[in-house]
Amino acid sequence: MVLRLGSVAPDFEAQTTKGNIKFHEFIGDNWTILFSHPADFTPVCTTELGLVAALQDEFDKRNVKVIGLSANGLEEHRKWITDINDISGVDLQFPIIADADRKVSELYDMLDHQDATNVDAKGIPFTVRSVFIIDPKKTIRLIITYPASTGRNFDEILRVIDSLQLGDKYKITTPGNWKKGDDVIVHPSVSTEEAQKIFPKGVKVVRPYLRLTPSPF
Ligand code: BEZ
Repeated sequence: MVLRLGSVAPDFEAQTTKGNIKFHEFIGDNWTILFSHPADFTPVCTTELGLVAALQDEFDKRNVKVIGLSANGLEEHRKWITDINDISGVDLQFPIIADADRKVSELYDMLDHQDATNVDAKGIPFTVRSVFIIDPKKTIRLIITYPASTGRNFDEILRVIDSLQLGDKYKITTPGNWKKGDDVIVHPSVSTEEAQKIFPKGVKVVRPYLRLTPSPF
């Protein structure tokens, strides 16, 4: 199955460091970030998971659950979490899926057999650095794959969450490099006349197709 923006996130059952889960039940009424990393006890991944743990309050504020994944077992995950906590000075609380049989990795297309930069000593692909943002309706709203060499910018992931949550609430989109609090763009489906009624803080018409309004936050 090819996963695209708008696909329903496939449901699955898995073992995690916080117990067994059914993914859709885990999501519940929350937004969810499902992210995979190549392997436990690898350097870039260690820094990434430390960062995610440090951002826990930011995810909570946005009603976002976070869940990691790699094709390692529970015992390795648990030992590695001790290291992550020690190295990054955090208390990692989000679950990590133990996908040693690669069932979830296959389901979410997280194995790239062509990427020679992301293989173990035997040449077997590690899971790639995938990020899926899934909304409370279980719809996939963002998919990104990063190279094995490059740690992710989780502030960017939070920025996209802010944009998606705002866009779901108001008829707006967000410009390049937008961040929470900046002006937003009136959705193209809204006429300027209508925009002037629904955005009481005012509408600035840069071009008929580019109308800005202060952030409704
Ligand atoms: C890392 O996390 O450092 C890493 C993992 C797999 C391939 C390359 C780097």
